[in-house]
Amino acid sequence: MPDALRDDVYRRPLATALERLGVGPGWRCVDVGAGGGDVSVSLATMVGHSGRVYAVDSDPLARDVAAAAAAEHSQVLAITQAGEDLLLPEPVDLAFCRFLLLHVVDPAVVLARMAGAVRPGGWVVAQEPVTSAGRVAGTALSMPDARHPDIGAWLPALVRQVGLELVDAWAEAPAGCGPGAVAEYLASLTGVDPKDDPVVLPPLVTVLGRLPDQGVAGRSSVAARD
Ligand SMILES: C[S@@+](CC[C@H](N)C(=O)[O-])C[C@H]1O[C@@H](n2cnc3c(N)ncnc32)[C@H](O)[C@@H]1O
Repeated sequence: MPDALRDDVYRRPLATALERLGVGPGWRCVDVGAGGGDVSVSLATMVGHSGRVYAVDSDPLARDVAAAAAAEHSQVLAITQAGEDLLLPEPVDLAFCRFLLLHVVDPAVVLARMAGAVRPGGWVVAQEPVTSAGRVAGTALSMPDARHPDIGAWLPALVRQVGLELVDAWAEAPAGCGPGAVAEYLASLTGVDPKDDPVVLPPLVTVLGRLPDQGVAGRSSVAARD
């Protein structure tokens, strides 16, 4: 999967969410299911050298790819770890995931782990698709390989289920017709060129969850922040 292309068509939801939070210099973040590291690199440019970004993925190959993508950003630490076992050396200000929860066995387990990784008052942000709400020439898309292809529809409830305050939630869907990034993305995803058929890519639901100041049980960081 070309992560750079995904970053292109789904760039706006990412930018919207990170700007909305006010991610800036000095922030500590974790990008869970980092894949090729595109989100990690975006975070790295925002947190600067005084910040830190943990790029976590269960696939050891992804760690190498993410580390290479972030080579110019010494604040990015690529780690091989399952989201279900998320354990960081310090609490973070932001735990983020995109296109991850649709693939894991139990999304609530991973989300709870992310909630346990942030400092009291910190943020958990997830961006996940509602695949069946995508359309090509009016026909619904499907993703049979994903465990939870419509997990985006459940995100707001999941955030509350794991003890986070649901601060905001919304959906955004790139759409287009004819040649361009949307058609290329769909072709890379499905192997089918939509040609001149109108395309609505799967909406990406963004949730902004905030850990209450008193935190939740089961923190997954091992050291208190100074
Ligand atoms: C579709 S890619 C998304 C990559 C990136 N987040 C993005 O938006 O471009 C999903 C990534 O999640 C990783 N992954 C799948 N299950 C995981 C798990 N249980 N824990 C951590 N990473 C996982 C995969 O190895 C893959 O790199």
